[in-house]
Amino acid sequence: MSLPDFPARLVHNRLATRNRPYGPAERHVLSLAAFEAARDEIGSWPGYAPTPLVALPALAREAGVAEVRYKDEAHRFGLKSFKALGGAYAVLAVLKEHLARNGVADVTAADLMAGRHRDLVRPVTVAAATDGNHGRSVAWGAQMFGCGCTIYLHEHVSAAREREIARFGARIARVPGHYDDSVRACAADARRNGWVLVADTAPETGAAIPAMVMQGYTLIAQEILDALPAGAPPTHVFVQAGVGGLAAALAAHFWERLGEGRPRIVVVEPTRADCIFRTVAAGRPVAVEGSTDTFMACLAAGEVSAPAWVILEHAADDVIALDDEAAMVTMRLLAQGFGGDPPLVAGESGCAAAAGLIAAVRDGAMREALGLDASARVVVIGSEGATDSETYERIVGRSAETIAGEAA
Ligand SMILES: Cc1ncc(COP(=O)(O)O)c(C=O)c1O
Repeated sequence: MSLPDFPARLVHNRLATRNRPYGPAERHVLSLAAFEAARDEIGSWPGYAPTPLVALPALAREAGVAEVRYKDEAHRFGLKSFKALGGAYAVLAVLKEHLARNGVADVTAADLMAGRHRDLVRPVTVAAATDGNHGRSVAWGAQMFGCGCTIYLHEHVSAAREREIARFGARIARVPGHYDDSVRACAADARRNGWVLVADTAPETGAAIPAMVMQGYTLIAQEILDALPAGAPPTHVFVQAGVGGLAAALAAHFWERLGEGRPRIVVVEPTRADCIFRTVAAGRPVAVEGSTDTFMACLAAGEVSAPAWVILEHAADDVIALDDEAAMVTMRLLAQGFGGDPPLVAGESGCAAAAGLIAAVRDGAMREALGLDASARVVVIGSEGATDSETYERIVGRSAETIAGEAA
């Protein structure tokens, strides 16, 4: 069994500096201290468990690297994506702050889940724009902690994704245009209506709530380190990006924790929404004008988040841009289980990092540029399972449940 070839473009980040200390500007966005708080909090929620880090030895052999491991976020809190860690954590922070302003201090998540302070919490409405998964997390958090919620969806978000959000009781607002249009519409309506915007992206570097969302994601990086033998962190992490929040969270945590010994961070994006590719190529934020519609539905962002760029500017080592076809082929390849590796359920965006690795190892120049040799220990982020079950079944030909059953 051999690996497929995907057309791909690679850009190296000339601003990436391995020996640069993790400094105050970065720490203002994400820090180990704030990570500890996030881990204590999220780790206490019912159903929390580290997601599996699945070894893929056949893929590693064919790729010519020492190890490939797949961080499978399909199992995150029953929400089927890593996003469960971010939006819901920020909702809780918003509510705690609201209660503190109203004279109620030291509130726990358990208090809110038990319905305490309901009279103060219920009038709060949180709002977010989403391609699907962030809105699902915010809606889940709002339901769990007892406040109102309105989620903004652009016209290309599928009906299946809308249903998954609405089932947590959120009000849905459909707006014309693309992801970035929905971000702007949501922010404007939130200002007008006195809602609290729980965005996963922001145009200003100091935005507190997107930083809180990203801080939730840093648990993934620590779980990866905890699952590997001490002193043997990955040499490479392939991670998909929309606005860059996930990539920044992983890069920041590895950077602050491991310094120069941190893994090489390879960001993977759809060609049709390659804002980080363009930003890295230019050395400053560059937006994608017009349509960012892509099969990798949750990566359809045209503007890098400013707080994420604070980290990625120096810690994203490389960016790969891939066509939509690569995601479809990789979804099927992972579902089948490559060469006897365990089958994996990866959604349209969830498979993108694995697709990026495959593209890189099949291209001699790219493989060499990225240092993907026989000593490389690679982690690919599987950021979601079948978050859109209809699309999953259409592409793979079988349901996610069938694949998961084969894996068990
Ligand atoms: C499944 C999945 N993967 C990756 C991403 C990218 O995350 P970010 O927008 O923080 O770069 C998203 C964002 O929604 C997502 O839902």
